[in-house]
Amino acid sequence: MGRIVYGALAPHPPHLVYAENPPQNEPRAECGWETLRWGYERLRADLAKIPYDTIVVLSPHWQTYVGTHFLGVEHFRSLSVDPVFPNLFRYHYELDVDVPLAEAICSAASDDGIVTKMMRNPDFRVDYGTIVACHLVNPSWDKPIVSISSQRSAAFYSVEVMQEHMVALGRATRRAIEASDRRVVLLASESLSHRHFVTEPPVPEDMSHEHVTNHHQYLWDMKIVEMLRSGHTRQVVEQMPEFAEQAVSEADSGALTWLIAALDFPTSRAELYGYGTVIGTGNAVIGWTPGEPRP
Ligand SMILES: [Fe+2]
Repeated sequence: MGRIVYGALAPHPPHLVYAENPPQNEPRAECGWETLRWGYERLRADLAKIPYDTIVVLSPHWQTYVGTHFLGVEHFRSLSVDPVFPNLFRYHYELDVDVPLAEAICSAASDDGIVTKMMRNPDFRVDYGTIVACHLVNPSWDKPIVSISSQRSAAFYSVEVMQEHMVALGRATRRAIEASDRRVVLLASESLSHRHFVTEPPVPEDMSHEHVTNHHQYLWDMKIVEMLRSGHTRQVVEQMPEFAEQAVSEADSGALTWLIAALDFPTSRAELYGYGTVIGTGNAVIGWTPGEPRP
């Protein structure tokens, strides 16, 4: 029987890849955003002890307005350029997709009444939210991925509607994985508070300029982080409409709600690997190791 072996909140500021200087990325950095990068380093060390087959990721930067889409081509290779930070992220990616698992999750969601579509265009450019989160969790890219789009019901309807959708999608994701033979790592690729600076210092990695945009956002981040790490995940979902609006949170993508639902609203303590700001946005790297399935 397949199962979810790990789940993580895995934010995707391209700055973190830039600061690591991997061979795939063209720009070079001196340093920067170490607390988050060291957090990801510890997450990778923990994940190295857990055998798994596939990474399933939901990214805010693959935005779809009609239904939830899934990558449905076995292999992608191209250049990903961040539209806001082309000076930091010009990344040559090459990745494999676990198409059978993507199709299984797609049809499980469809069975539950969710509008879905498999994305079969071989020239499709994979979004940088998927690429950055997957790189930071598994820089060797030796595992196939399933990439799920962010259906933007929060944008055209409300956060409450988005949450209904994402809880249903999370449950369908879990059911499809358990019906497969895959051991899966889930990633919610998103920041927490998301109000960011609109100018960049001359040296982007000059950390004397880095801090949270405002105290109000910081208070929200600390509240959400504390609830997540202490197992109050159901309360996080309940607070999501206020959090999404007041902290301009990237959780409006539904990635975190989807992850919590797919993990069946974990009540165990999560591992907080790190919290840090990137251009003023709040980011936490948090991991869950699921226990035995509930009866
Ligand atoms: Fe983002």
